[in-house]
Amino acid sequence: MKTKILDVRDLNKHNLEQSIVYDEAEAEAKVNAALRKIDEAAEILAGGGLVAFPTETVYGLGANAMDRTAVVKIFEAKGRPGDNPLIVHIARASNIGELTPVLTPVIIRLIDNFWPGPLTIVLKKKPDVPDVTTGGLDTVAIRMPDDPVALELINKAGCPIAAPSANISGRPSPTRGEHVVTDLEGKVDAILIGSDCRIGIESTVLDMTGDVPTILRPGIITAENIEAVIGGKVAMDPALNQRKDPSGEEGENFTPKAPGMKYTHYAPKAEMTIIEGQIDRVKKEIERLKGLNERLGLKVGVILFEEKEFIEAAHDFFARLRDLDSEGVDLILAGALSEQDGVGFAVMNRMLKSAGYKIAKV
Ligand code: TXA
Ligand code: MG
Repeated sequence: MKTKILDVRDLNKHNLEQSIVYDEAEAEAKVNAALRKIDEAAEILAGGGLVAFPTETVYGLGANAMDRTAVVKIFEAKGRPGDNPLIVHIARASNIGELTPVLTPVIIRLIDNFWPGPLTIVLKKKPDVPDVTTGGLDTVAIRMPDDPVALELINKAGCPIAAPSANISGRPSPTRGEHVVTDLEGKVDAILIGSDCRIGIESTVLDMTGDVPTILRPGIITAENIEAVIGGKVAMDPALNQRKDPSGEEGENFTPKAPGMKYTHYAPKAEMTIIEGQIDRVKKEIERLKGLNERLGLKVGVILFEEKEFIEAAHDFFARLRDLDSEGVDLILAGALSEQDGVGFAVMNRMLKSAGYKIAKV
């Protein structure tokens, strides 16, 4: 399949301000050219095709969520297991009624506070939402992304857009246009290249179908942020506490409530281990292991974020994994982040999965 690569970075006014614009007319022409490319992509979606597009979290691979045949193509292109449900993206909060019959005051408060933005809400689904979209579940995950290209695209397509992250299943989520091109060129109809993703990890998935709101996947919107808005307790899926010893063998196995959370995710090609402990000891241990393994002939990559720079870590983590893979490292040594912080916890969730839950304490 020939994939159309459509560069729409000029839509974002912020980008325009960064490059020199000599007159108003030129700026307008640039924006209009980007809008025409988005029109073209929206037509592809409306016609049952696949389009990858930027969001503020990670790039998504979209199809018409209400069109079974189109949604099946997402699973084929990504090599994604069929029981892993997709998030359905909308461009206006009022469109939520097409997907779910449930709209309580608490849900409205969540939407008012966090949409558009990186919060996905799991609710009972309407019968019209196809089973392929929800992996056979009777619930649907819904989110309104905060990215001008994504919103324009969904609006113009005129239908809710099912979109998982735009990577080959099991690979790190894509946070730059070039990551999507590497994974999906030749497998999808079009790729919209926008800005690098502002946040860098996927949305928080919040299950609102039970008695207590429960976080199934942590993200930049933390339990505390949600509690502050709804004025009540938020639970964590116990599966988020999964750990294994450094051999990768011993540890409890949980079954997560979000089907996608059980798969090996974000796996770099290199073997990866996390080192956890007091920062100076972690640094020392990483240096020791790096030296030792390099003397044995291995190429070693290190991921060590500044202490407490959680937002930076979220922004850079997936891109770092992909960069180290391109450099051809055999082993990745990563310093653990503090899980006391909600964002640190969210990045650690991805780091643990990348490392197959292998963590060594020092
Ligand atoms: O930030 C994001 O959420 C990105 C961008 C593209 O919007 N999307 C994304 O989608 O991360 P994906 O498919 O890679 O992850 C969706 C997660 C999976 O863990 C899936 O199992 C869970 O959400 N999920 C989807 N629908 C669900 C449902 N009805 N019940 C429980 N979990 C669900
Ligand atoms: Mg994903």
